[in-house]
Amino acid sequence: MINTSGQPPRVVSGMRPTGRLHLGHYHGVLKNWLELQHEFDCYFFVADWHALTTHYEEDSNTISDNVWEMVIDWLAVGVDPSQSTLFIQSRVPEHAELNLLLSMITPLSWLERVPSYKDQQSKLKERDLSTHGFLGYPVLQAADILLYHALQVPVGEDQVPHIELTREIARRFNYLYGREAGFEEKAEGAIPKLGKKGAKLYRNLRNAYTERGDHEALAKARALLDANQNLSNAESERLFGYLEGGGRTILTEPESILTEVSKLPGLDGAKMSKSYRNTIALRDEPARVEKEVRAMPTDPARVRRNDPGDPNLCPVWEFHHVYSNEETKQWVENGCRTASIGCIDCKQPLIDALLKEQAEISERAQPYIEDPTLVRNIIADGCEKARETADETMEQVRSTMNLDYY
Ligand code: TRP
Ligand code: SF4
Repeated sequence: MINTSGQPPRVVSGMRPTGRLHLGHYHGVLKNWLELQHEFDCYFFVADWHALTTHYEEDSNTISDNVWEMVIDWLAVGVDPSQSTLFIQSRVPEHAELNLLLSMITPLSWLERVPSYKDQQSKLKERDLSTHGFLGYPVLQAADILLYHALQVPVGEDQVPHIELTREIARRFNYLYGREAGFEEKAEGAIPKLGKKGAKLYRNLRNAYTERGDHEALAKARALLDANQNLSNAESERLFGYLEGGGRTILTEPESILTEVSKLPGLDGAKMSKSYRNTIALRDEPARVEKEVRAMPTDPARVRRNDPGDPNLCPVWEFHHVYSNEETKQWVENGCRTASIGCIDCKQPLIDALLKEQAEISERAQPYIEDPTLVRNIIADGCEKARETADETMEQVRSTMNLDYY
């Protein structure tokens, strides 16, 4: 894909360094990255500052181990540093500078209504998350994205509100610092054309959106403006822009690309997640993989070897969907329903496929484990490239905010 400037559009995504990645990450996020890197100008980074918003008490060795292990996992599954820019957030201090500047213009109410704010606070009860940094998490994320003028941001469903907020922050920034000359006067001048009642409603809606972030106000304003016969199209657009905070584009509004949820469940059939202790790591011990798969629960109806079962009631079957070909799946379907195979038999081709995949991943990780400077150099190059791009954006941002005075 190529845009008008002859460059492939930019994609930015970050991952918090939570340690060794597991197969859930692989079949969800990473496979998606592998596809994107062929088509887009991808910037993938380790969101180490984001990790600190929740894990600020953790000792810093844990964070650095997690960072390097995670980058090795990326490389081992095929994230390719000759196609994508790989870097670490904290090595590009422009993220902090833009975060600070955006924090000046982000209404508190916008942050308080981000769903993950309250969700995470109640989920992670054992941590004190009533910090400035945690509330500001989405502003830092907006800075990560806006610094690189990303058009697309691959994220999971839980992150979509953060991308929406990023768009709102970009719009507000553009409105505050990028208005055409006389924009405000022209907009104000057109308000009386809405009539007395319309003008009052417009002002109320504008307050509701800019001060309280009320989204319904946007739709209502659109309807109000569309219904009015006295406004030219240009006036109507200007009034809408004035209400929602549009202006000249300095920061680019991104779109989210929804990452499909991994089809691979955890070993117990629930979602694969470190906190449920039901994961298989990308680079796991072969003996552990074998043992864990053998211990996986199956259709509870198959108490004895002769009891027939239903694959649809069995998490092993979901593994087959990801790892087995049609022929094997047929064999499972028939064998399970007629009790002509036992669960141990059924699990064997899976164990073989998993061990083969693990061996390939481990083999690709090996050079990086043996020579850590390889990984350090890849990241150093990526950070340098990221800083160049980020610097350009910051120069524009400083200049539009009149911060480039001497
Ligand atoms: N918040 C994201 C997560 O928890 C990680 C992240 C940080 C991110 N900055 C980002 C993702 C920028 C996409 C773009 O998964
Ligand atoms: Fe599950 Fe396979 Fe056993 Fe059927 S035979 S219950 S699909 S493990």
